[in-house]
Amino acid sequence: MIFSANQMNYYNYPKLMAEIKKFKTIGVVGSGQMGSGIAQLAATYGFDVWLLDTDPEALSRATKSISSSIQRLVSKGQLSQDVRKDALERLQYTSNVENFCSADIIIEAIVESEDVKKKLFLQLDKIAKRSAILASNTSSISITRLASATSRPHQVIGMHFMNPPPIMKLVEIVRGADTSDETFDITKALAERFGKTVICSRDYAGFVVNRILMPMINEAFYALYTGVATKEDIDAGMKLGTNHPMGPLELADFIGLDICLSILRVLHAGLGDNKYAPCPILVQYVDAGRLGRKRGIGVYEYRQTPESPKKGKARVKAAATEVAKEEKKVEAKEEKKVESKEEKKE
Ligand SMILES: NC(=O)c1ccc[n+]([C@@H]2O[C@H](COP(=O)([O-])OP(=O)(O)OC[C@H]3O[C@@H](n4cnc5c(N)ncnc54)[C@H](O)[C@@H]3O)[C@@H](O)[C@H]2O)c1
Repeated sequence: MIFSANQMNYYNYPKLMAEIKKFKTIGVVGSGQMGSGIAQLAATYGFDVWLLDTDPEALSRATKSISSSIQRLVSKGQLSQDVRKDALERLQYTSNVENFCSADIIIEAIVESEDVKKKLFLQLDKIAKRSAILASNTSSISITRLASATSRPHQVIGMHFMNPPPIMKLVEIVRGADTSDETFDITKALAERFGKTVICSRDYAGFVVNRILMPMINEAFYALYTGVATKEDIDAGMKLGTNHPMGPLELADFIGLDICLSILRVLHAGLGDNKYAPCPILVQYVDAGRLGRKRGIGVYEYRQTPESPKKGKARVKAAATEVAKEEKKVEAKEEKKVESKEEKKE
């Protein structure tokens, strides 16, 4: 039976908003690209936020990236100084899961591994208050199976933000087999409170967005692997030919090649069709630690080494700096010449 998951159920709208107003604290697990963005978003919308990571370095990176991201939004006039100050005060960083005991909703954004996520859900279920919703930002993993690790499957849901969460307009909500209407309605209202548009997906591997996006990215890797074109031409072809803001290989670097590979493996195993088999060159890049922008190297190189050619605006800026340096040297030489001439005259 095909059902529409996208309808409000138990609650009328004002009652639902009153429910959301009771939400005070949001817990976010995983302070990588997605978790730090979700935490930032929630804090700028007036929630108290605990951001947890097992890796202290990841937490320290998140502190810096959130602060500079909020500052950028202030510079662009998209956030006020007051919101900035308030949001930074509302954010707390931790490695201790016990701090989540007061959270009204916990949003998980850790590695895309079913085993690791299940272990975490089991732990969160024990710590979180009885009424709390446990949401996963997973790109592809079954919400039903994550929910089965808990004693509250009706309060487990997929809340799939897009990258970067403070900017991208979509949240894809995924209902597991036992997700209650109440959990769905509250999660949808929360995403809308964050200014997002919601789409709903049933719980099949990759949901809607990645079911369609990842085969395209994988095909771009196959085009590269089989020598159809260079990486630059594949990306330029898709950008200019189909009006995508980023080429598929550039986008894969932005998402993280490890994440793309994990999603493709979930699609392959979950849907049982060889068309989802990850391209060997993608597997090899991940094996080599070329995970994309977050590691400074993926399909493209992002680290600025003396040998690495600079691109576009960066190249123009670097050339302008070189010219300015040369001009200063010439000016300094000229000044010295004048000075020595004047000294000789004296
Ligand atoms: N990258 C994207 O574009 C994107 C978009 C939408 C959804 N997602 C999903 O969001 C999730 C996170 O992706 P990401 O790109 O932010 O990954 P990431 O690699 O940038 O960050 C993951 C973080 O989780 C932490 N972590 C790992 N295991 C943990 C545990 N048990 N407890 C606490 N912290 C733990 C790691 O230290 C790391 O800081 C994945 O499920 C991914 O599929 C990613």
